Amino acid sequence: MSGKFAAFRCPLCAGDLTAEGRTLRCAGRHSFDVAGEGYVNLLPPQAKRTKDPGDSREMVAARRRFLQAGHYAPFGEALGELCCELAQTARDPHAPHLLDAGCGEGWYSRAAAAALTAAGCTPRVAGFDIAKPAVRLAAKAQPDAAFAVAGSFAMPVQDGWADLLLNIFSPMAREEFLRVLAPGGALVYAVPGPEHLYGLKEVLYDTPYKNPCAPVDYEGFARESEREVTARIRLEGGAIADLFSMTPYYWKTPREGAARLAALQVLETDIQFRFVVYRKQ
Ligand SMILES: C[S@@+](CC[C@H](N)C(=O)[O-])C[C@H]1O[C@@H](n2cnc3c(N)ncnc32)[C@H](O)[C@@H]1O
Ligand SMILES: [Zn+2]
Repeated sequence: MSGKFAAFRCPLCAGDLTAEGRTLRCAGRHSFDVAGEGYVNLLPPQAKRTKDPGDSREMVAARRRFLQAGHYAPFGEALGELCCELAQTARDPHAPHLLDAGCGEGWYSRAAAAALTAAGCTPRVAGFDIAKPAVRLAAKAQPDAAFAVAGSFAMPVQDGWADLLLNIFSPMAREEFLRVLAPGGALVYAVPGPEHLYGLKEVLYDTPYKNPCAPVDYEGFARESEREVTARIRLEGGAIADLFSMTPYYWKTPREGAARLAALQVLETDIQFRFVVYRKQ
């Protein structure tokens, strides 16, 4: 299929999809409606383990507020630069295919697309997430990109479609990542650095620990480079709770720790991402 949803394939039979009005159909007559917000739901009901998988509407809204406020701007800038460098090795460097796996509300897709566009490229952007509320926001904010509700472990994405695959804090699905990457394509995998959110953890835990940072290798990928981005942020009021709800600590913090955080007016913390580039072998 050509057009906006060219990255995707039928989640039921892996056939190509053709657009007929606002419906995508495969040759096997499976059909998927494009929602008013411009995304398509390609998650078969039987693939859902819960009624509303992935991040909840509230978590997605908190992430949107926090990211739009610019607290993670240094990460967006670094990712944009990295994508521009990696686009040089795309099949068509002027029109790299970028796929954002577990895209959330799409802030990183937008950052990458904006940097590529500013560098004179016409990127083809697709993204998916298992959480419908996230995909809805992503699609509304980036109408020229193709967004779908889908899961990483059975992606409805064409073999070899992606020159660049982003995985920013979402599940690692090695085999599917290899399948959807073009030969020589690059995976950008964001992992938290040792200092990431240490100031937050100092409030939450009596004995905070630093994130382990031993490099990990994945079969089928060559670890090519690593870019570390560190900054310090100062959060006030609701931004503190928004950040907390974006982290895994939200689920596993003892009540006293969460209460200490709720009482804070201001939180200062280091933030640190490592963008690790893996090349498909
Ligand atoms: C920590 S958030 C990161 C979102 C986005 N990449 C960002 O950094 O703003 C993790 C995301 O992974 C999604 N997710 C969880 N399990 C998934 C799966 N099996 N397939 C696709 N997305 C998944 C969640 O819904 C959530 O949006
Ligand atoms: Zn089909």
